[in-house]
Amino acid sequence: MLLSELQPKTIIEIGAFTGGSAIWLTDCLEIFKIAGTVYSIDIDLSMLDEKARNDSRVNFVKGDGNNLGEVLPAEKLSQLPHLWLIIQDTAMVDVTGLLEYFHKNGLKSGDYLIIEDTNKWVWDSWGGGWKNQEEMENGRQKMANSHQTYQIFLNN
Ligand SMILES: C[S@@+](CC[C@H](N)C(=O)[O-])C[C@H]1O[C@@H](n2cnc3c(N)ncnc32)[C@H](O)[C@@H]1O
Repeated sequence: MLLSELQPKTIIEIGAFTGGSAIWLTDCLEIFKIAGTVYSIDIDLSMLDEKARNDSRVNFVKGDGNNLGEVLPAEKLSQLPHLWLIIQDTAMVDVTGLLEYFHKNGLKSGDYLIIEDTNKWVWDSWGGGWKNQEEMENGRQKMANSHQTYQIFLNN
């Protein structure tokens, strides 16, 4: 429904994994007859499903979401038509850096930026039986810091 309403011309996903979500987004664009393009970035494209790998409609890009200047340089971004829908789907990328990068490089009023897994209690629900308690604590801390960041971002 959001896709149909927004009619995004550029979708940028950080975190491709098997490529399932990128293919789904591309299928949605086709179904809604939206002339948009999907870019799906992952630091490790080896996990892409074969069907995704062979789907020429999606632009899978190998790169580090913590180094967006290299993956999606400002000049490249300036050529991507708006409305942008940016979906951050990896806990391994610094949310502050991501927000700042797009904010300083073309994000416009009306564009959408979705940060997945931001529920404060997500680490607790994932935590049952997780052996590395230090990793759990780091995750909880990162989530708490991110919530402060969103608040600062939203207030400005
Ligand atoms: C939750 S999965 C993405 C799931 C996918 N969007 C879906 O819905 O099917 C997270 C992905 O982020 C990738 N990733 C981890 N660190 C990254 C980084 N620094 N930059 C880009 N991608 C990263 C992982 O390789 C993994 O494939």
